[in-house]
Amino acid sequence: MTAKEERLAVVTGGAAGIGKAVVARLIDDGMRVIAVDKNEQVIDTARQLGAQSLVLDITAAHAADTLMERFSLSAGSIDVLVNNAGVGGSRRLSASTDADINQLIDTNLTAVMRLTRGLLPAIVRPGGRIINVASIFGLVGYAGTMAYSVAKAGIAQFTRTLASELTPEGVLVNAVAPGVVVTDMTRDHLNNPDYRAVQLAGIPLGRPSMPEEQASVIAFLASKDASFISGVVIPVDGGFTATRHRS
Ligand code: NAI
Repeated sequence: MTAKEERLAVVTGGAAGIGKAVVARLIDDGMRVIAVDKNEQVIDTARQLGAQSLVLDITAAHAADTLMERFSLSAGSIDVLVNNAGVGGSRRLSASTDADINQLIDTNLTAVMRLTRGLLPAIVRPGGRIINVASIFGLVGYAGTMAYSVAKAGIAQFTRTLASELTPEGVLVNAVAPGVVVTDMTRDHLNNPDYRAVQLAGIPLGRPSMPEEQASVIAFLASKDASFISGVVIPVDGGFTATRHRS
C-alpha cells in the first residue's frame, strides 16, 4: 500500500481505556495511527500496537499546532480524528466547585472544540471523518454527574453543529455515547458492589461494556461502510438510554 492510500487517524486519549482499544482497532483496519495523550504511557501503548505517539495535553492552547508541527501535517493529511480524551469525576451541582466545573468543561468540551478547530485545515476533504466520544450522561439526566454531563451534552451538540458545517465539504462528523465501560475511569467504582448493582440495574444487557465494544462502533464510523451517516450520536450502552421500563 502506498503512503497516499494509507489513511491516517489521530486518536486522543490513546494511552488507555477506550482510546487504546480504538488505536488497536484502527491499526487492525489498516490505518496509520497517531495516539495522543497527556500520559507518557501512550509511548509504550503506541509502540506495542504499532502506532506513533505524542505526549500532549489537549487543553494546551497550542495543542493542535504542536501536533501538526510534530508530524508535519498539512492540508489533507488527517483522514480520521477521534476526539476521545476526557476526564470523569463529577459531582452534584451543590457540591461542584468552580475548579471542578472549569476542569471538566475545559477538558471534556472546550479543548475538544479548540483542538478540532486547529486540526480542521488538515482534515481530508472530501472523505474526512471526525468522531467524538460523548456519554450517555450527556443524553439523559443523571444525578451527581453535573459538570461532566453538561460537557458531554455539549459534545453531542458540537457533533450535530459541526456536521452541519462540514458535511457539505464531505467531512462526516458523528459521535458515540458510551454507557458504562470498564476502564481506569470506572474500574474502582465498578469494584464497589453497591455502585455496580445500581449501574447494572439500569442496563438491560445487564453488564458494562468493554472498550473494544466502543472501538468497533468508532471503527465503523471511520470506515467506508459509514459513508452516508453524519451528525448522529450513537448510544453504545446496552440499551440504557432507550429503556426506562423492562418487564
Ligand atoms: P480512561 O481514563 O481510561 O482514558 C482516558 C485517557 O484520556 C487517559 O489515557 C488520559 O490520560 C487521557 N486524557 C485525559 N485528559 C487528557 C488531556 N487533557 N490531554 C490528553 N489526554 C488526556 O477513560 P476512558 O473510560 O477510556 O474514557 C475515554 C472517553 O470515553 C472519555 O471521553 C470519557 O468521558 C468517555 N466515556 C467513558 C465512559 C466509561 O464508562 N468509561 C462512559 C462514557 C464516556
